[in-house]
Amino acid sequence: MTHATLNLNGKSYELPVLVGTEGEVGIDISDLRAKTGAITLDNGYANTGSCTSAITFIDGEQGILRYRGYPIEELAEKASFEEVSYLLIWGHLPNAQELAEFRHRVTYHSLLHEAMKKLFEDFPITAHPMAVLSAMVASLSAYYNREDEEPDLNIARLIAKTNTIAAFCYKKSIGQPFVYPRNDLSYTQNFLHMMFAVPAEPYKISPVLDRALNLLLILHADHEQNCSTSSVRMVGSSRTNLFAAISAGVCALWGPLHGGANQEVLQMLKAIRDDGGDYRKYVNLAKDKNSGFRLMGFGHRVYKNFDPRARILKKAADAVLQEMKVADPLLDIAKNLEEVALHDEFFIERKLYPNVDFYSGIIYRAMGIPTEMFTVMFALGRLPGWIAQWREMKDDPKTRINRPRQIYTGATTRSYLPMEQRTASTEPAMLQERELVLV
Ligand code: CMC
Repeated sequence: MTHATLNLNGKSYELPVLVGTEGEVGIDISDLRAKTGAITLDNGYANTGSCTSAITFIDGEQGILRYRGYPIEELAEKASFEEVSYLLIWGHLPNAQELAEFRHRVTYHSLLHEAMKKLFEDFPITAHPMAVLSAMVASLSAYYNREDEEPDLNIARLIAKTNTIAAFCYKKSIGQPFVYPRNDLSYTQNFLHMMFAVPAEPYKISPVLDRALNLLLILHADHEQNCSTSSVRMVGSSRTNLFAAISAGVCALWGPLHGGANQEVLQMLKAIRDDGGDYRKYVNLAKDKNSGFRLMGFGHRVYKNFDPRARILKKAADAVLQEMKVADPLLDIAKNLEEVALHDEFFIERKLYPNVDFYSGIIYRAMGIPTEMFTVMFALGRLPGWIAQWREMKDDPKTRINRPRQIYTGATTRSYLPMEQRTASTEPAMLQERELVLV
């Protein structure tokens, strides 16, 4: 198969067909408008490939996720977050020297410019940590964006400093003094230290928490062209700086249909608990389209069988809670909810399964991380993926500024009306959808 044929207004056009290394087929419409005058319309981009990419492969039908060819299950079991970050950004697993150098960089660049502390101070204590995170990441460009520096230096800075920023967001929200990073700790240990240490006493980092955090960050590290990653690529395509592009990704992630879902899941589970634990009632509510309620942590644009990350996390939630000797009734509610939904015709028909956000919050909660910080944790994990995708976009000679088209449905040309002649009825209604369909 080398081309597809399009028939439009009695004319036939040949369009090239690309096949990816895993057999995915894409019809290349790059010249469509130039050749035919027409564009494609694809609500939510569900059928649109925005780029070619060699970073992450997902097969949603079979529940497969691989970073640079490595199955997520193997990386989750064997790798460290630093190794996975290196793998995503530079394309291969680091050897001992490469890993040591990378670790050194993301350790020794973890301090924030002292002037940035003042920015933290001026946010209200009630600010959502994602508001603070996005502003702080964008602000890094004010302190560290020199053109004459080695390009990868800012990548190391961003990874190192976002760890510190994320922990400072929490300290700020509870009114405690910031705890500075330590150079003798790993990336995940440093995060736990900056989050939970207080000046009054030494903080002992639990290896259980360290392992759990490592796992969570790895599982979130990349997910090909999702909403936040596409935002990073889109904003980055204007050739803005790395920090500005990543900050756009943080903002996109915040929404409840994307990374913000992990916070929503916990709130939903708490609401079910406070309402007497009747999870069936909430499954029924989610099936009722008029209720406006969705089972948060359920469904995915790509996964239509299971989300491999959710499988790993479900097991991990049990293990972490057991190891930490924590009994959380929310975990039981989550399992019951999953069980009922998985056997319900509504969810089966629509191929709705628990996604990564369904069990992650239970683990974060057991770790002592407050609900409002959950999406920040997602962002910290997704950071190497965003950077890898930004770098790939920037270095790809085919990259053009992202600028989609539209089908205009507003008023056709009309003349300006003086105020006394204006009434509500002069506004034409938007064209109805059926009028848009050519017959
Ligand atoms: N609860 C109840 N019904 C749902 C749900 C849900 N969580 N998700 C989808 N549906 C229904 C939806 O109403 C629609 O039904 P119908 O065909 O009868 O109109 C059908 O399933 C398809 O849904 P959609 O909204 O068209 O699917 P989408 O691919 O546009 O959206 C999604 C995907 C993840 C935004 C959506 O499933 C959702 O809102 N889930 C809850 C939020 C959530 O958990 N988000 C985290 C996603 S995973 C982490 C990440 O990568 O961001």
